[in-house]
Amino acid sequence: MMQKMYDWVDERLNITPMWRDLADHEVPEHVNPAHHFSAFVYCFGGLTFFITVIQILSGMFLTMYYVPDVINAYESVKYLQNEVAFGVIVRGMHHWGASLVIVMMFLHTLRVFFTGAYKKPRELNWVVGVLIFFVMLGLGFTGYLLPWDNTAYFATKVGVQIADSVPFIGPYVKTLLTGGDILGAQTLTRFFAIHVFFLPGALLGLLGAHFVMIRSQGISGPL
Ligand code: HEM
Repeated sequence: MMQKMYDWVDERLNITPMWRDLADHEVPEHVNPAHHFSAFVYCFGGLTFFITVIQILSGMFLTMYYVPDVINAYESVKYLQNEVAFGVIVRGMHHWGASLVIVMMFLHTLRVFFTGAYKKPRELNWVVGVLIFFVMLGLGFTGYLLPWDNTAYFATKVGVQIADSVPFIGPYVKTLLTGGDILGAQTLTRFFAIHVFFLPGALLGLLGAHFVMIRSQGISGPL
């Protein structure tokens, strides 16, 4: 039955070469921990990706309850956390995952740095990685405000003040982020838009470029 269905789809879309290309792709010996234990450092990119997928999925479910305005934001999070079935788990995954993904990304960056994997011909992928790094930090910063509790409000206020103190461009960055002079209703709407549309969109594009380059260049050689 399954085989028949597969053959039906394959006859029309010719999917076999595509998935064989993925499934038969061989991993070099120096990145296989079964051969050299220290090769486990190569897992961090994949782990970062795994948690990123969890963040996207759990975040999509959070938006089914979250209300992005200053009157309702806090209550909507409280309701999700305390009343909605599995709400505490989904929110917990997104909350802890946000920190874990930064840790994993940092370890991945260290692996790339200390194995010299940023060198020719992978310089461009390093640059894409740096952009991804900032996008991920931006996601953490904008997401932190969304529950609209005191910790979120005052932590973000400090963050915005730091941005404001940057010479020349600081005040513009502040206005762009807050949408006005104070951290208020406009700011929450902006942070929400940036957190769920702008940065995830940028991230998907950058990750696509990251993976296309990894596939076309192959993983870097042994030390
Ligand atoms: C969401 C964040 C990121 C994800 C999901 C990700 C994912 C991956 C994956 C799966 C690989 C394959 C090799 C491995 O797993 O170690 C890889 C390789 C690579 N990554 Fe990332 N990465 C991210 C962020 C970064 C950052 C921040 C940098 C550097 C600033 C970076 C630079 C590179 C480079 C240069 C390679 C090629 C390494 C080689 O060929 O040995 N990546 N990335």
